[in-house]
Amino acid sequence: MRPEVAVFPVAGLGTRILPASKAVPKELLPVLDRPLLQYAVEEAIAAGCRTLVFVLNREKLALVDYFDRALLLEQRLAAAGKLALAEDLRRLLPEGVHSVFVLQAEPLGLGHAVLCAAPVIAGRPFAVLLPDELLIADPPVLSALAALAEARGGAALAVMEVPEAETSRYGIVAGAPLGPELLRVQAIVEKPAPGTAPSRLAAIGRYILPPSIIPILEKLPPGAQGEIQLSDAIAALAIAEPVYALSQPCERYDCGQLAGWLSANLHLALRREELKAAVLEVLARLR
Ligand code: UTP
Repeated sequence: MRPEVAVFPVAGLGTRILPASKAVPKELLPVLDRPLLQYAVEEAIAAGCRTLVFVLNREKLALVDYFDRALLLEQRLAAAGKLALAEDLRRLLPEGVHSVFVLQAEPLGLGHAVLCAAPVIAGRPFAVLLPDELLIADPPVLSALAALAEARGGAALAVMEVPEAETSRYGIVAGAPLGPELLRVQAIVEKPAPGTAPSRLAAIGRYILPPSIIPILEKLPPGAQGEIQLSDAIAALAIAEPVYALSQPCERYDCGQLAGWLSANLHLALRREELKAAVLEVLARLR
């Protein structure tokens, strides 16, 4: 099950990083020199996805501008001899990769956002990426999940161990271990009340799902926080079909909140030769 379609649910309110996200969608806040969203887009393309579906609302229309060609700007950059920059802008989405924009009129939850993409998914297996979660791994997490889903034939999601005290913020997975990093999912509970989590393995925003999850989502009542929860649909799916959880080691930054966004910037800056010395100098001076 290698997905050709990737769904990016980006119609959330972004309350944890206000006021930065008041006029600029948080997905367009820069992490170094590109918008946060670009990292998840590249991860999806690297995993083989060719149709990128952005589920958004009227507050996020700037995302459409971001993926549109800026012909005048490209021409001016080219005329000024800045050919590499002009080419970078032109190839934001490589040849053969298409973007589709779908509206979620009401923020009824992540599961509902995925359901809004159903007409584009059109009965095919698909990936879901939450762009808030910036994951740095080699191979990229979505590629590892796609390989797993293809080899085993089933749905797959990425998980990571979190401290007990934080389990109530996540979808928490329980299941039967199949190897050091692999689990067959038996249950997934969205934002369990403190002390009730079935494990410490949290879903971290990367999924490969079969089209059979769509009819499950269609019938799903609201769950935690009164929202249609993707986790509840996956829990129902796991009763009928194999669902695997992969805990591949990765660096994970929750860029939907300030500490995560800042840490992601630092991590990536320290990997860039032209930035590393300046960042280290500031850190050393301020300690
Ligand atoms: P979150 O609840 O983590 O993010 O949703 P949020 O709502 O954007 O931000 P906060 O919590 O208020 O700071 C997880 C993902 O699901 C999407 C969000 O955009 C995010 O990518 N989502 C959530 C939707 O697309 N629609 C919804 O109705 C809810």
